[in-house]
Amino acid sequence: MLDDYQSHSDVLAGPDVSAEALRAQPLGADAVRALRYMESVESYTLFYLKSLLSTRAAHEPEIASFLAGWLYEETGHGLAIAALLAANGTPIEPRAERRAENWRERITAAGAGWVSRWRSDFPAVHMLWGALNELTALTAYRRLARRTGHPVLADFCARLARDEARHFTFYFEQARMRLAAPRTQRLARGLVRRFWAPVGSGVVPDAEVRFLASYLFSGDDGRAAAQKIDETIRVLPGLGGLRLLEDWLGREAPAGIPSGFAQPVT
Ligand SMILES: [Fe+2]
Ligand SMILES: [Fe+2]
Repeated sequence: MLDDYQSHSDVLAGPDVSAEALRAQPLGADAVRALRYMESVESYTLFYLKSLLSTRAAHEPEIASFLAGWLYEETGHGLAIAALLAANGTPIEPRAERRAENWRERITAAGAGWVSRWRSDFPAVHMLWGALNELTALTAYRRLARRTGHPVLADFCARLARDEARHFTFYFEQARMRLAAPRTQRLARGLVRRFWAPVGSGVVPDAEVRFLASYLFSGDDGRAAAQKIDETIRVLPGLGGLRLLEDWLGREAPAGIPSGFAQPVT
């Protein structure tokens, strides 16, 4: 029933992945591991959104319309990655029938709902958070294509990155507009400094988060990409001097690539 529904949708039907090209040149173990991570993140979007629907952001018509299309596209990304991995002969393991809610989700939902009740400017935080996550995802797909140098991944990641770029633009422009007041800037800056971590933290095991961070953001190119993310976010009102991803990498993934994985493609 679900397959039939998805096959008639441009977004959800999945890409036309060349199984032949993958048979001739299968994706390596590290690329598969990175893609499994991204699939988990993409398919988690529904639960991420669920915690935010209890806030004021969902009551703003422009944001609500965006979120509906955004969820659709992110879900499509998850299905596309699953199709790619299946074509590669490394399918994603079937998940437990019901996904258990974790403690982080409950706290995030309760915290966001609570702050939002007292602060009418809370959607600015949501938009900033979204801009950070989209920019990280966009950069991650570009880095993944570059690191693997795989011809199938080059096209595939470029397609996903185009969507992430559109998502980023919406969140970023909304954040820019909503961060005008110094009081809002202080709230947003304080919350992202204290609570932001790269997309996937708390969703996939910590070892996987550290793997992906090292895989994509180590080496000169990787560090430059992380710096670029922080630089872009610093352009927003009230966020000058903020170093989010660089500081997180310094704390959580300072050692670079874990042993057993390929070194960066130069
Ligand atoms: Fe996505
Ligand atoms: Fe996105």
